[in-house]
Amino acid sequence: MIEASVKNKIKFIVSVAILFLVCLLLKVDLSVAILLSTLFIYLKFSLKNEYSKTYSLLNLNFLFTVIFFISYFMIKSGVSSLWIPFCIIPMLSTILFNELRVSLLLSVAASFTIASISGNNFYLGLGFLISGIFSSILVFGARKRSVIIRAGVVTGIIQAMTLFIMQDFQLVHPQSYLILLANGIICSIIVLGSLPVFEYLFKTVTNISLLELTDSSHPLLQRMVMEAAGTYNHSLVVGNLSDAACQAVGANGLLARIGSYYHDIGKLSKPEYFSENQILVEDSKKHDTLKPTMSKLVIMNHVKEGVDLAKKYKLNPRIIEFIQEHHGNSLVYYFYRKALENLEEKEELNQEGFRYPGPKPKSKESAICLLADSVEAASRALKDPNPNSIEELVHKVINNKFIDGQLDECDLTLRDLEKIAAVFKRILSGIYHSRITYPDTKDDISKD
Ligand SMILES: [Fe+2]
Ligand SMILES: [Fe+2]
Repeated sequence: MIEASVKNKIKFIVSVAILFLVCLLLKVDLSVAILLSTLFIYLKFSLKNEYSKTYSLLNLNFLFTVIFFISYFMIKSGVSSLWIPFCIIPMLSTILFNELRVSLLLSVAASFTIASISGNNFYLGLGFLISGIFSSILVFGARKRSVIIRAGVVTGIIQAMTLFIMQDFQLVHPQSYLILLANGIICSIIVLGSLPVFEYLFKTVTNISLLELTDSSHPLLQRMVMEAAGTYNHSLVVGNLSDAACQAVGANGLLARIGSYYHDIGKLSKPEYFSENQILVEDSKKHDTLKPTMSKLVIMNHVKEGVDLAKKYKLNPRIIEFIQEHHGNSLVYYFYRKALENLEEKEELNQEGFRYPGPKPKSKESAICLLADSVEAASRALKDPNPNSIEELVHKVINNKFIDGQLDECDLTLRDLEKIAAVFKRILSGIYHSRITYPDTKDDISKD
């Protein structure tokens, strides 16, 4: 068996060799291959450590190949290079990977390459680089479709202005400006139309799709309101906690919020077996007739049921990750302890049988959802919620999850955990703070 690191090295050497071969076959300047290889090395060894979860080099290569072949065939077939829809690549990479730096590097590579295949046209390359930079900045963090269209219009204007400046402020070919303006708008329309396809191909989710999932008329959220109101409210609080904590550590807050809204949809199949939905006294006795091993199965099954339901409603795979990972392989402690109490003599109990199947959270966002979920559930059981007891509880829950190894496969650092704890404490104190009791004398009422 070849080791993964050796395999990666072989893949890298083969990729660079293919790059040089393609340049030679298409008679493209070899400096393009040198530039691309350098950027490739930079992305692989530098950015990868920071943003390993948000993009893959394969996806970036695919985007680059798309613009390369579009440009190559347009230029070779004599179509004006002003019609090349260059901006679709920086716009798509910014929206899909939520990374400005990656999209800027892609713009540098693509503009240099297009300049080279159009006969070392320096001005064309510079013009595309400028529009690439601006279009990336304009769509960065976009949460609405209108922002993308507006970015297309502004990019079109910037492209036309760049040409005007390059022609020493003289209107040489007036129709060129209109082509560049139309080019920007067409690019934004192509980006909007192709986003769902790229989301599917790259297995990612954009802010725009995420916002569609916040709509409370979504059938799954509607079912939660009607059939499991306690779980729905719990999910909203977990969403608020996760969003704020993600923002504190530089993770994607919107993704964590939406993932949290849907993390417990599996409880819809048996909502009455979960404490947050047990309003009446008799509801809380649901587990009394069941053996701890059976109760554990009912509880643990909400993860599998959730994944099945999410697939049925065609939720994005990034959201399904939250359902699968929000308990990691934690112990169902309450029923494990109950089973221990009921243990007959000489009987043995396997702790592993009381653990969720996992996997453990892989992303910062789903790890924060796991912490927020546990902290929210534990805080509801607090008898006297006050800032001190909440702080103690938050630290205890996070420490326990850390020691239990639930955060082993995500990128959260100890400093991140401190920031997350501070956010949880602030928000939960806001929810549970005791209201100041006003004296209800007649005088005070009249003053109000
Ligand atoms: Fe859950
Ligand atoms: Fe939950």
